[in-house]
Amino acid sequence: MMAVTSYLRSLERSRLARARVDRPAVFTMCGREWDLLPDVFAPIYSPSTGAALEFLGLGEPHGLPRAGSFLEIGCGTGIIAVSAALAGCDRVVATDVNPAAVANAAANAARHGVGDRLTATHSDLFDQLDQRERFDVIFWSSNYVAAPAGYEYKNAHERAYVDPGYRTHRRFLAEAPSRLTAGGVILLHFSTRGDMAGLLRGAEENGQSLRVLRTAVIQEGDVSVEHMLIEVAGVSM
Ligand SMILES: C[S@@+](CC[C@H](N)C(=O)[O-])C[C@H]1O[C@@H](n2cnc3c(N)ncnc32)[C@H](O)[C@@H]1O
Repeated sequence: MMAVTSYLRSLERSRLARARVDRPAVFTMCGREWDLLPDVFAPIYSPSTGAALEFLGLGEPHGLPRAGSFLEIGCGTGIIAVSAALAGCDRVVATDVNPAAVANAAANAARHGVGDRLTATHSDLFDQLDQRERFDVIFWSSNYVAAPAGYEYKNAHERAYVDPGYRTHRRFLAEAPSRLTAGGVILLHFSTRGDMAGLLRGAEENGQSLRVLRTAVIQEGDVSVEHMLIEVAGVSM
């Protein structure tokens, strides 16, 4: 059996989720309906979105009241970013490197009436964001499975699952601090499918520390996976 950390296993999960004939155009989660476009990471075929919503306290229709600004890197369908806006964040930016995900997040923001507070932007991490914009919370539910550095994505959907050479994780760690408000927090949803040693090395390169804030053990098919919400701390700019 392939290890839980195997990138081949994750690519197979991507292939199956993308190609399912019963993949719906609309799904229900947290008591609400959400558009699901082709080629976008489907929260219904992986427990990570549900775990992230719980970690952030956004899992209930009337979650914790919030305020301030929220940047979601890798928004997928936009369910987390839209839930943050519905929970009270007054400015939400949802980015994804997959253009279909950006369209999906915009559709779900309109569906739930928060299009005035949520901007969906096509961006590779922070590249297309206004350099002057700062956020109180930066959150990424990452493609935490490490693939070999030379692996080339076969389609945009695979970007939700694996990170070749952990390049995107290292860039995220290096670039996120400069986008924070004073007192802002960087949060990463990670799991034991991920390369924790690689993440720690990346954090050390930037003089950062990682603090696990929440954990949840979830049975995923034949394996038990620990999901965690990690705060990246240590560099203020
Ligand atoms: C595990 S999925 C999470 C999607 C969504 N947040 C959710 O929880 O349902 C990871 C997301 O990160 C996006 N992603 C991967 N690399 C990225 C990058 N360099 N810049 C922006 N988004 C990226 C993927 O396209 C994917 O939508």
